[in-house]
Amino acid sequence: MTNDLKSLLLGGLAAVGAALAFAAPAAENWENHCAKCHGADGKGQTKAGRKLQVKDYTSAAEQAKFTDAEAIRATTEGIKDQAGKERMKGYGDELAPKEIEELVAHVRKFKS
Ligand code: HEC
Repeated sequence: MTNDLKSLLLGGLAAVGAALAFAAPAAENWENHCAKCHGADGKGQTKAGRKLQVKDYTSAAEQAKFTDAEAIRATTEGIKDQAGKERMKGYGDELAPKEIEELVAHVRKFKS
């Protein structure tokens, strides 16, 4: 193997390593569990999000409507409408409390 090829390969590996280290678990969890409704960008402009009329979390006014504790509780236990119908399921049995806390911090970052 030539030295050029070696350094190319090593450089590639370093880039992959950096990308993995950078991908915070919260960003991954958001993508896997939450983005379907809330959108990758938190605006809720997805098919499911529009149907459920999720709020735009880039809006400071919307974010002011819930505390971190309320958001953690909603994410853990889920959200029901007034008739008791589920609007968002609870993630308490899939995600660790720490992951949920980090997801709420992730939600806060959408705010402009
Ligand atoms: C099936 C669609 C759906 C999915 C998936 C979903 N949500 Fe929701 N979420 C909603 C709806 C509907 C609401 C209520 C309307 C609103 O506040 O936007 C809501 C509200 C919220 C709120 C506001 C809570 C409050 O107290 O007002 C937070 C925070 C939240 N979701 C976080 C999450 C996180 C984190 C995930 C992923 C683990 C997630 N959601 C996945 C539909 C969803």
